[in-house]
Formats: sequence, C-alpha cells, structure tokens
Amino acid sequence: MRRMLWAAALPMSLWSALPVLAAPVPASAAVAEAPGELTVLHWWTSTSERAAANHVAARLAEQGLRWVDSAVAGGGGGPAVKVLNERILRRMAPKVAQLNGQSMNEWADMGLLLELDAVAQRKGWARTLFPQVLSQLSVREHIVAAPLGIHRINNLYLNLAVFRQHGIEPPTDWAGLTRAAARLRSAGVTPVAFSDEPWQVATVFEALLLGEAGPQLYRRMMVAQEWQAFEDPALERAFRRLRQWRSLSLPAGGAAGGAAERPWTELVADFAAGRAALLITGDWARGELGALGLEGGRDFDCRAVPGTAAAHLFSIDTLAMLAGDRSAQPEQEKMAELLASATVQLGYNRIKGSVPVRKDVPVDELDPCAQQSYRLFANPATPRVPSLVHRMAFGEVGKNALIETVHRFALDPAQTPAAAQRRLLGLLRALPSKPARSAAP
Ligand code: BGC
Repeated sequence: MRRMLWAAALPMSLWSALPVLAAPVPASAAVAEAPGELTVLHWWTSTSERAAANHVAARLAEQGLRWVDSAVAGGGGGPAVKVLNERILRRMAPKVAQLNGQSMNEWADMGLLLELDAVAQRKGWARTLFPQVLSQLSVREHIVAAPLGIHRINNLYLNLAVFRQHGIEPPTDWAGLTRAAARLRSAGVTPVAFSDEPWQVATVFEALLLGEAGPQLYRRMMVAQEWQAFEDPALERAFRRLRQWRSLSLPAGGAAGGAAERPWTELVADFAAGRAALLITGDWARGELGALGLEGGRDFDCRAVPGTAAAHLFSIDTLAMLAGDRSAQPEQEKMAELLASATVQLGYNRIKGSVPVRKDVPVDELDPCAQQSYRLFANPATPRVPSLVHRMAFGEVGKNALIETVHRFALDPAQTPAAAQRRLLGLLRALPSKPARSAAP
C-alpha cells in the first residue's frame, strides 16, 4: 500500500482540526487496553443494535477476546464518525471502529488501517463473500475491514394491523398508497412515519430516487458520479415524491407541528404501535421491530419502495482495525476472522435486521423479509446499487454535502423541486472527481 506522511495526506474533512496537532500528544494519552481487550467504536445504540453487538461480543469472549464497548449514539453514524476522526487525530484511536465503505479510503491511504489480506486469504473470503462485499472491504487491492452484514435500504413497511382494522387493502403502487393514505387520514391515523433528521430524510430520498431513476441512471449518479446524470428529470420527480411523502406524516389540513428531527427508533415505535401505518427506511428497522416483538408477514409487511422491487439498494456494515503500534494485531486478526464466520454471521444478522455477507450460509431459518433481501442480493442478475447516505458511494464530505442539500429542500416549502435539482447539479459539478478505488461497488 502507498504510505504517505500522514499529516501531509490529511483529508480535507480534517483540516479544521489541525491545531490539535501542533501540541505533541503524550504517549500516556493512548487508550490503554489490556491484552485481549479491543475497544470498539460504533453507533449501535438502539435495543436491537445493542443486542446484535452483545451477541458478537459474547462470541468473541468465547475465544478469549474482550469487546470493550465505545458506542456513540446517533443513527446513521454522523456523531460516531466525528468522534473517531477526533480520536485518531489525538492519537487515541480505538483498536476497532465501525467504518463503512468510502469513509475508509482516507484512513487506509494514510496507512492507519490494518491490512487483513492474510486473514482473507486464510479464510477464503474471495470465495465465500459476495463480490460487492469484498469490494467494499478493499482499498487499492487490500482488505482493510471485516464485514458484518448487508442492509437493504429501499424498504417500504406496512403495519398490517392498521390496514386490517380500517379495512384497507395494503397498496402496492404510488396511486394505491395515495388512496390508502387519504383513507387512513380520515380515520384519524397518520399515514407515514417520517423524521426531519438529515440522514433519515436522505435515506428516504435515495430510495425514491432509485424508483424514479431506475438502477442504471442511479449508478451514473452515485457510482460514476457523472454530473450530467443529475440533469435528468427523474431527479426532479424524486424531489417531488419526497415532498409528498413527508406531507403524509404531517397533521392534516396544514395544522401546526412538523415531522421534527426525531430519532429513527421513535419512528419505529410509532409504526409498531399503529400511530403511523407506513415507513420507508433501511432494514435496521426490522431488527428493531423484532426487538419490540413484531413479526414480518404477521404484524407488518416488508415490500420494496414502488418501482424498486427488482433492485437492492444496499449498505454494508464493516469494522476496521486501527493499526496503531501493531501490538494488538493478533487479536484484531482473530476478531476479523470471527466476524466473517458463518456462525457469527447468522447469529448477528438475525438480530440486526441485515443479512449475512457470505454466499454459503443456510438462510432458511431467517424471517421471510431477510430471506427475500438475501436471495435478491445473491442473485447475479439483480441490480445492486450502493447507498449514498450509508457511505457506499461518495466520501464523507461529498456525502454530507448531498445530504444537506436534500435536507434543505425538505424543510423549505418555498424551494421548488427544480431548484433543488439545480443545487445538486451545481454541487456535483463543483465536487472533485471520484478518487480511484480498487473496484467499483
Ligand atoms: C448502519 C446500521 C445502523 C443504522 C442506524 C446505518 O448507517 O449501517 O448498522 O443500524 O445506520 O443507526
């Protein structure tokens, strides 16, 4: 791997933190970990996320490794990634960090991530893992993280009890959803659970965009990052859909009170209790519904966002090992090996709502929604498209700029979909072209 003088190679996103580098950091500032202990920085703090992390920690403990938990609350990982940046800059890096997709590039380029090529080789990852997973773990032909699970983002959840109670047939397309929403409203039910938190708004948006654009154009936008693709009318339509969808979460008749920046777990709780009937989000919500005692197929239906049924809009959770002085390398390698093992994969993903990263695990015992996601992802004919919001496409800075633009539009009723499209287009033209990576997702 190319090694650079790390300060010289400091990513754009971190220049603001440079002053802290002026003062030498005493060696004692480093996080002290006893042998066999691995501090893990992550953002899994909901009930199901915690349970999934605890499951992994218990499996590691059986092998003599101690998971020392360092969780930073905040869905989508914005705060956790900031904390990680700060800790790395202050030379207080944890041994292990949830570091997904494109956000690994900068750290890997600076030689801060342990290369796990030997583990991958020994455990036959090239043979057992899905190619998209391997690609997300690799930076410049080196494996720099261990995989946990594959999330699907383009899900539409329907609360079946609510639909039954009001005698409404669960809809399958936009026209049916609009009709159902009107009937739910007149029955006093808020049709849609929605949050104005930027990452949640943009998570809904990318699923709607996939529906309007189709996988090919979506790829031109998010994978090739061709600014010309952002001129397509599909983008304006997606903005329009976002506005309509959000409006279905607001009190009827323009009454006061908006969607508000609510944590995703509150939305899931509203949906589970029947205070809202529809929810578009990643399948971490399914993990949480499971923790609340709800079952897919019986209590709720998991469908694809209209127009996206054939496609899998994915994000992959991974844990990177911070190299440090390399004293923990044997434990870190052992952990990486265990994370990708068939047993941990099945146990963890069943709780988390995601699906295994391996091609060779029996998934018949997973719930029907998980099986559907897994089979779709496993089928080579499926268009698999990377999530922007969950770090599978753009680097951290570009991603955040796109999210901010989508969020501004959602919150500003005076901004037209056409104006929002022009803003995104301007942003794309101004962003530097995509940095090279080992393989396209
Ligand atoms: C992560 C999931 C997590 C979700 C909500 C996503 O970015 O990939 O593991 O459950 O955020 O916090």
